[in-house]
Amino acid sequence: KTVVVLVACVLGMAVARPDLHTHLYGAQVLRVVPEEAAQVYYLKGLQLQNYFDFWTEPRAIGSPVDIMTTAFQIPLLKHTLTHVGLEFRTMISNVGELVAQQKAAREGARASGPLSLDWTSYYDYEEIMAWLDTLATEYPELCTVEEVGNSYEDRVMKLLKLGKGGADKPIIFIDGGIHAREWIAPATVTYIVNELVTHSDTYDDLLSNVNFYVMPVINPDGYAYTFTDDRLWRKTRSPTNSVLGCRGADPNRNWSFHWNEVGASDSPCSDIYAGPEPFSEVEMRNVRDQINKYADNIKSYLTFHSYSQLWMYPWGYTSDLPEDWQDLDDLAVAAVEALTAVHGTTYEIGSSTNTIYAAAGGSDDWAKGEAGVKYSYTIELRDTGRYGFLLPEDQIIPTGEETFEGVKVVANFIRDTY
Ligand code: ARG
Ligand code: ZN
Repeated sequence: KTVVVLVACVLGMAVARPDLHTHLYGAQVLRVVPEEAAQVYYLKGLQLQNYFDFWTEPRAIGSPVDIMTTAFQIPLLKHTLTHVGLEFRTMISNVGELVAQQKAAREGARASGPLSLDWTSYYDYEEIMAWLDTLATEYPELCTVEEVGNSYEDRVMKLLKLGKGGADKPIIFIDGGIHAREWIAPATVTYIVNELVTHSDTYDDLLSNVNFYVMPVINPDGYAYTFTDDRLWRKTRSPTNSVLGCRGADPNRNWSFHWNEVGASDSPCSDIYAGPEPFSEVEMRNVRDQINKYADNIKSYLTFHSYSQLWMYPWGYTSDLPEDWQDLDDLAVAAVEALTAVHGTTYEIGSSTNTIYAAAGGSDDWAKGEAGVKYSYTIELRDTGRYGFLLPEDQIIPTGEETFEGVKVVANFIRDTY
């Protein structure tokens, strides 16, 4: 028995990632803050080995890096970090336990009655899609829902069109859930939609002059998988040619603009695998087609992620800035000011390369560079690492409240400008 366990462990280490997420029990998230350039490079190298799940990526000196390790790899990681002079702090001492606790709470809430989305808990893909259909029946003058394609595993992808001014208005295109485990993103996107719809009188002028086109979960298979199998899955679920059986590409490395030039991996087992070619992932093709279809009218593209509290604009593939970066920065500053005013939550603002790291093939860069959407933003929601992807449900509403204020600044600006 011991031998079997030992062999399994050694295999697990040698075979990189496949096992990583199925053994969350006892897994930990450690935080290190590199203090010299060599440590940043070391961490980047470590990330590329695929032994550990980097919840945040190495950025620069002074920026914290959160690394998840399975229970049996804790000594290995700690030794490795110590070896290069990195001190670590435990952010989450038992990931599996936290996941289990949150799951039990969610199921308890579900058992107590029929579904009504009230943003006190996270909802799965079916629930969110059903809710979109409810909006279309309950608010036919405001909401229409279109089926725009299917995911690899055949889940129907839906586009919500929200507004009452007719088609010939500026559009703000909003998506969430491109990364499966970033649950606060779909929750916040649906929160914003709900606010607009249920207070449509208050927002009459806005809704009469701007259309919101919304896809709350653009990586349906990955998202569903985080509910059924692996809470910390990030990518799509398409098969790859990997002999290790690794699945999925990083959907935010899969867009065609400067695809795979930097900050992405060729390894199907990597969490930042760019895919075999640009737009290899059908879900991203579906979103791309919708953006292309309405590109003339789309003035802003907002794509929601978590975590780190960042409001970022292109480019992600280069440290160069777009020539109109000052316009994007000004609007971001105004949005963040409104956001922060609600609960005091602070955000960093800047181009994504300059605030985090260069990573090509993102949807934000494509929206601006290829589809010509001027105000393209990637927004990394709460928190700054206390819970990371496992943001507790009681933070959904506060996150929604503050983010809605930021989005309204963008929306009002679009209304006034176009
Ligand atoms: N955390 C996001 C990601 O890694 C940030 C994306 C920023 N945009 C970009 N084009 N790199 O996908
Ligand atoms: Zn993300």
